[in-house]
Amino acid sequence: MEFSVKSGSPEKQRSACIVVGVFEPRRLTSVAEQLDEISEGYISNLLRRGDLEGKPGQMLLLHHIPNILSERVLLVGCGKERELDERQYKQIISKTIKTLNETGSMEAVSFLTELHVKGRDIYWKVRQAVETTQDTLYTFMQLKTKKGEPRRPLRKIVFNVPTRRELPVGERAVDHGLAIANGMKTTKDVANMPPNICNAKYLLEQAQLLEKQFDSLEVEAIGEKKMAELGMNSYLAVGRGSANESIMTIMHHKGGPDDQAPIVLVGKGLTFDSGGISIKPSEAMDEMKYDMGGAAGVIGTMHSIACMNLPINIIGVLAGCENMPDADAYRPGDVLTTMSGQTVEVLNTDAEGRLVLCDALTYVERFEPELVIDVATLTGACIIALGAHASGVMSNHNPLAHELLNASEQSGDKAWRLPLWDEYQEQLESPFADMTNLGGRAAGTITAACFLSRFTKKYNWAHMDIAGTAWKSGKNKGATGRPVPMLSQFLMNRAGLEAED
Ligand code: BES
Ligand code: MN
Ligand code: ZN
Repeated sequence: MEFSVKSGSPEKQRSACIVVGVFEPRRLTSVAEQLDEISEGYISNLLRRGDLEGKPGQMLLLHHIPNILSERVLLVGCGKERELDERQYKQIISKTIKTLNETGSMEAVSFLTELHVKGRDIYWKVRQAVETTQDTLYTFMQLKTKKGEPRRPLRKIVFNVPTRRELPVGERAVDHGLAIANGMKTTKDVANMPPNICNAKYLLEQAQLLEKQFDSLEVEAIGEKKMAELGMNSYLAVGRGSANESIMTIMHHKGGPDDQAPIVLVGKGLTFDSGGISIKPSEAMDEMKYDMGGAAGVIGTMHSIACMNLPINIIGVLAGCENMPDADAYRPGDVLTTMSGQTVEVLNTDAEGRLVLCDALTYVERFEPELVIDVATLTGACIIALGAHASGVMSNHNPLAHELLNASEQSGDKAWRLPLWDEYQEQLESPFADMTNLGGRAAGTITAACFLSRFTKKYNWAHMDIAGTAWKSGKNKGATGRPVPMLSQFLMNRAGLEAED
């Protein structure tokens, strides 16, 4: 999709379609009013006859309105003016895009960016419109033999801003929105790919494709041989039952001075989590192909920050492997010596994510990081706590937690903090090793993070549990592209990128 920004009055547009809002009940927005005047009351007449109430998401497509240069006008219901909030704005944009894609207009000029959304400026409205448009139009067609495309798909959207003064901000919002949307698409494509294709090596190859595309990116890989030399026995144990090699992919984005400490992102990359010997029930087990959602989120974020060429150093780690039952698989009762030297008694082979992440988190100490954020589909308990709407955030450093929640708020990619108090650590005690990998049913998301916190003492660290947010189940099953918006926003803030400069 091509996006651009301009500033003009609706009656002067000569486009395949112009998109304007109508509030409930039957109240024209000022833009719709301008069209109404030119057309001598054509629109208000229709409303009076009851063709459109203005309820959120209602659509009315009109052709050849008298005195109007554009072929079509799409009236979009925006609900009650005072109730228009962020969520409703995004829903309206999404519905509009779906409708436009079916009308046959290949180009549209949208005035929805002029709606008043509580607490949000033009930058936010344009950026969200770009992100939401790309999100709505996303499909995963790679593995279908018949690709059904609309006959005349929408190709170009022009967002109108109220005055010429807002053009630069609008253009910046388009650039940022596209960078984030590109990253989300990469995340979705990688995550939706089935586990017989998407293994740890596939994750490495996807990173290498980005390396070819961006000068700022460099990729290295740590295979099983190197892991053994490094003493990453916990990571290796998880992948031992799999026919696919465990590979940790490391992506370097060099945007800052050489001596600047990097921000490190670590993604859980279980390309399939069967549970191992503590095997999962069959129902919805296919969804455990998404257990690499953390790694997918990291590669997508690296894509988005490379698009923006952020002037700071960022490292993305994709901790790839597969958890399978096998004669050689690790088992409940095993005691593993992690790279850090600490020992772990395995009580459940399905609590594998923490065993992979702990060694990856020890490994990244060598980068002397400014801070480390790990991202993981770590616990089913997080879905019980927060559902599918918010990612869980936990941290050993309050300012970092606040920065992340702030980025979440700015980007509209919801997250909520859970505590990491010492009291919870007791649930990890073991009679045979330094700790177990199982904290019991109570506060499962927190005890998983407590486990990780024992490996992150050397730097400021935050953990994101995206078990509920990385993909959708049910008839719209698919990866969401989260938490790319939140992480990209966090890094944009760190790089000092603003809406205007
Ligand atoms: N990948 C799962 C967590 C998960 C489950 C995410 C369902 C999204 C949907 C993780 O490896 C796991 O199996 N966790 C166990 C931990 C338990 C054994 C302590 C869980 O959540 O049940
Ligand atoms: Mn598991
Ligand atoms: Zn898992």
